[in-house]
Amino acid sequence: MNVEADILERADAAFAEALVEALDIREHEAGDHSKRVACHPLVLARRFTADTEQLRQIYWGALLHDIGKIGIADAILLKQGALNEDEWLEMRTHPEKGHRIVAQIPGMEKAAEIVLSHEERFDGSGYPCGLCGRTDLFGGETVCRNRYPGCHYF
Ligand SMILES: [Fe+2]
Repeated sequence: MNVEADILERADAAFAEALVEALDIREHEAGDHSKRVACHPLVLARRFTADTEQLRQIYWGALLHDIGKIGIADAILLKQGALNEDEWLEMRTHPEKGHRIVAQIPGMEKAAEIVLSHEERFDGSGYPCGLCGRTDLFGGETVCRNRYPGCHYF
């Protein structure tokens, strides 16, 4: 890798991590929730591929999976009790909002697909699309498997 490419890659990674830090601060997360969530799918993904670009996209997708929550109102995002039906409707827009954000970052188009699909579930009960049994989510299954240990995409 040449110096310019290395600098750009580091800038992309730093930008993605800064975005996630902004969300973690807004959610008053103690610790590095998003970074912890991002590492587990990466470890799993390495068992299925050695493709460096694919692994980078999975890491970024996992790291930024909840970035769309930046667009959720404080009254909902920070609510202490259970969300009502209308609040859940708003909360369930975060994968699409996150996709809109991440898809605008050059070179993160596949990561954006992961962001969009990270709340999908194998049984079709997820959102935003209610995908059922899909195996072509490019990493979404890795994030899903990590979050839902009973989920079997393969
Ligand atoms: Fe989420």
